Amino acid sequence: MEYDKNIVWHHSQISRSHRESLNGHRSVILWFTGLSGAGKSTIAHSVEAQLYQQGCRTFVLDGDNIRHGLSKDLGFEDADRKENIRRIAEVARLMLDAGNITLTAFISPFRLERELARSTVADGDFIEIYCNCDLTVCEQRDVKGLYRRARLGEIAHFTGISSPYEPPETPEIVIDTDQMSIEECSTHIINNLHKMGILPPNSPI
Ligand code: ADX
Repeated sequence: MEYDKNIVWHHSQISRSHRESLNGHRSVILWFTGLSGAGKSTIAHSVEAQLYQQGCRTFVLDGDNIRHGLSKDLGFEDADRKENIRRIAEVARLMLDAGNITLTAFISPFRLERELARSTVADGDFIEIYCNCDLTVCEQRDVKGLYRRARLGEIAHFTGISSPYEPPETPEIVIDTDQMSIEECSTHIINNLHKMGILPPNSPI
């Protein structure tokens, strides 16, 4: 839906770059994507903890948590997932303007929605991090017992079982979470952020 043409954008005196210079680092969206159980939330929180230690302002938007509030009216059919990702992309964009390093941990199974999320911000502001993990490993982990229930037909539209997951074709960062430890994954991400110039030059971990 288009916005009402009688609504006029109010420009802030304090811009993103003011907030970034106050923070001492630039803001960015770190968009984690992958199957349920691939480690998105765990690794996003681990990266956040390391960034916090380095004095960065951060926030994690986590799929399960957001579905308790902002997206509690949405289910898991394609249209609902698309709306979920649209909302998250908008929130992440606001957080970018607020000067934060925002980490989003959502399955975000569809390429088109991830590309739409990317297109709401400037080049370089959206870093896609693919948590690559074999479905069989996610299913073995089955931390929440949801795969078992999905196989029994108790949960409809379950990603990887009865609903598709489209892996990114050119993500900025890939972590093989079925082969690397949580620490290795988060260190790999932080080191890449230094190399990409997103984090200030620093001795890599
Ligand atoms: S997304 O597809 O819209 O990006 P999101 O990341 O918010 O999904 O939510 C995924 C979480 O919801 C999973 O980690 C899992 O705990 C739970 N869940 C419940 N039902 C489903 C389902 N049908 N498919 C996938 N995850 C589900």
